[in-house]
Amino acid sequence: MIDIHTHVLPDLDDGAKGEREAERLLQSDFAQGVRELVFTPHYYGKKRSLESFLRQREEALEKIRRLVPAGMKTRLGAEVWLTGVNDPSNETLCALAIEGTKCVLVELPFEERWNKGLLLKLFSFIADTGYQPIIAHIERYREIVKNPTLVNSLVKMGCLIQLNTGAFLGRSTQKLAFTLLKHGLVHCLGTDAHDETERPPDYKQAKELVKSKGYFKEWTRVQTRMRQILKNQRVENTCTPIKKVLWWYK
Ligand SMILES: [Fe+2]
Repeated sequence: MIDIHTHVLPDLDDGAKGEREAERLLQSDFAQGVRELVFTPHYYGKKRSLESFLRQREEALEKIRRLVPAGMKTRLGAEVWLTGVNDPSNETLCALAIEGTKCVLVELPFEERWNKGLLLKLFSFIADTGYQPIIAHIERYREIVKNPTLVNSLVKMGCLIQLNTGAFLGRSTQKLAFTLLKHGLVHCLGTDAHDETERPPDYKQAKELVKSKGYFKEWTRVQTRMRQILKNQRVENTCTPIKKVLWWYK
């Protein structure tokens, strides 16, 4: 399995603290069946220059390279914060794409309304560069929870959708997670693992639950899509749009 969203590189963001915690997170993911993992530390444009971020990311990787379990492949990436105001340039976004791909993981505002500038930024990034944004943890945004049909529009625009494995397990996110999975609107899965206690890797638990509910075929399809992304191939993108439903909040 592939974990496309992690905060395992040590001491770069609010993720792993120190090499030992990073090592234990890697071992936990590996024990759960993850064989390819992408390091996606947070990138907040205004706080750190691109050059210093890339240098620090490389140094963090050097510290733990020897601790990666044998049999696990890793790649560098980032989780880029976009708001629609003073966002990183398209060149910067391309430089932060997942190693060897034309896809970059982006995080959008959680509580605030998504402004026109943000949607234009996503659109122009796709149109001008040919790269694709992967929208991180789609289940966590107020805009999406309020109106899940927005996912149809994001996919139509050319975005890829990432769901946290924990979304299948949480009471408030489960319904949305399974709805998106059933409709073919999930392209990537990630644990978004930060630490061993509050936000640990939970890939195996999620897989077992999905399997027990009869959606293993859909789960496998997402794994195939992630393999395509990492091979820099066009992602199989058939989906059935979600219909607007009135019962969503009940
Ligand atoms: Fe994250």
